[in-house]
Amino acid sequence: CGIVGVTGVGDALPYLLQGLQKLEYRGYDSAGVYLTDASGKNALIKEKGRVAKLAEKAKANGFAGTAGIAHTRWATHGNVTVENAHPQKSADDRFFLVHNGVIENYKELTETYLQGVHLVSETDTEVAVQLVDKFSKDGLATPDAFRKMISLLDGNSAYGFLLVDHEDPETLYVAKKKSPLLVGVSEHGNAVTSDAAAMIDLTKDFIELRDGDMAIVKPDSVVIYDAAGERVNREPFTLEIDPEDTDKGAYPYYMLKEIDEQAVVARNIAGHYFDEDGNLQGIPCAVTDAIEAADRLYIVAAGTSYHAGLIGKRYFEQWAKIPTEVHIASEFAYDQPMLSEKPFFIFLSQSGETADSREVLDNVKKQGYPALTLANVMNSTLTREADFALPVLAGPEIAVASTKAYTAQVLVQAILAASLGNPGFDLKAELAKVAVEIQAITDEKESFKKIAEDALKDQHSAFYIGRGLDAAVALEAALKLKEISYIQTEGFAAGELKHGTISLIEEGTPVFALLTQSKTAGLLRGEVAQVAARGANTIVFASEELAKEGDAFVLPQVNELLMPLLAVIPAQLVAYYATLARGLDVDRPRNLAKSVTVQ
Ligand code: G6P
Repeated sequence: CGIVGVTGVGDALPYLLQGLQKLEYRGYDSAGVYLTDASGKNALIKEKGRVAKLAEKAKANGFAGTAGIAHTRWATHGNVTVENAHPQKSADDRFFLVHNGVIENYKELTETYLQGVHLVSETDTEVAVQLVDKFSKDGLATPDAFRKMISLLDGNSAYGFLLVDHEDPETLYVAKKKSPLLVGVSEHGNAVTSDAAAMIDLTKDFIELRDGDMAIVKPDSVVIYDAAGERVNREPFTLEIDPEDTDKGAYPYYMLKEIDEQAVVARNIAGHYFDEDGNLQGIPCAVTDAIEAADRLYIVAAGTSYHAGLIGKRYFEQWAKIPTEVHIASEFAYDQPMLSEKPFFIFLSQSGETADSREVLDNVKKQGYPALTLANVMNSTLTREADFALPVLAGPEIAVASTKAYTAQVLVQAILAASLGNPGFDLKAELAKVAVEIQAITDEKESFKKIAEDALKDQHSAFYIGRGLDAAVALEAALKLKEISYIQTEGFAAGELKHGTISLIEEGTPVFALLTQSKTAGLLRGEVAQVAARGANTIVFASEELAKEGDAFVLPQVNELLMPLLAVIPAQLVAYYATLARGLDVDRPRNLAKSVTVQ
């Protein structure tokens, strides 16, 4: 979910609505805004569905306010209804609260403290705001009532809270634990946000709150207390972001813009990590020393980042000669495998905020193991809490379906592995070629549009198959297609098909084969023939050296280990065009959020 709040900014509504629009990637099943001004005049507006709907309703309401809080929701507790949308309020309309995260013991708290209080929503957040109201009625000043509510939350609870008290309307009470929250400071008012990018129209200067912090934000002051209740001074950092990076310009969807940006991203990454003479730079010795001291790498990630890790493993093992395991964060968190004697952890994350990955980082830190985060969003929690962090440099990624962050993660892992060992070829030169060829593939949009429309428009299931690195890319390719087109798609190690899954192949079932690895090309051709013989519509994306007549698309040739960077591009474009052909919203698939900050 996404949070924004402003105070002392003149006209608050446009900032809040623009902020919510930029935060929609965090969830978009409902949204709400509470507006107020110094006189206490106020309005609470909530809507099911997209922020655009809320914006219409809020503008029609006519009251703009000088302060306010707003939220876009990704449902955890309670269905998607207007009642369950945030802000939640206390029974007598005094306190208004938005919340990210999950309060694990909200039922117990209700039973203990809120007997007789009528709850109108099914949310844990309403319990929190009613508790503040109760403690305030018991005689506590608002900051103390807020603090007391927080002190009662179960240790596993995660929260980013933003509270307004109608009796002191331009003051924002803020608290955070395991959920990102920043305070934006400016000469013409202050802000609170779960993602700095949402507030760049107001300011580029942000203070990062730490777990356990509580802040009191007024139009012209910010006071922060740490977990021990001590007043602390935290310096703001300046966000280096061009507001245009978060616009989609002439593109119909962010996803297409981000697919197209991959060539530039590849060049930027090479420019950052190589100097003009081709020497590696930008990776501190402390990082390479720490990795070299380890006997095994554990890559931990979720979703697309996990898939990028499966490719990175190959580089660390083949070039740096370090045994590497790749783990799904949500599994590792509760089922830690037996570790080697000297493990080193690499967290891969676009957002740097994924709760599943954060849980693992917390656990391994407690065990004293070193960790590096590779993230696209620097200053995020995973980058801050790991011992080391390196930027992935994909630029802001807005579409829920991740594209450029995947290729960027693969690229940065390749560069890191090269800094630890020897790829045996000129990586910088080869990456320059990769950038050129990514561009060449993205220039072939019409081919992929046709493939998608012919093969997928009316299908309910599909497959991506490959062997070795192609099997890893097949997982990502399948995820891309299914998450936005809703065509059930499996990514498969091709050799496994015959052991069960081949029974799903019917007349016309689309089977995409990724064929870029010479060692297994013959076997994969056999598997393509096996499914074709059973009626599948086979679509082969093969590298130049391995292509045959009849293949659907020939991928330009680069070093085989870098072929995943090219093989994934057609899959992204096919997913995009299949989704368009099916009349769906490419950037905002149902039920998903770009950054999942709950476990
Ligand atoms: C969400 C997104 C995925 C993403 C995953 C991990 O589920 O929808 O696209 O891969 O989180 O996110 P991270 O920010 O840690 O890479």
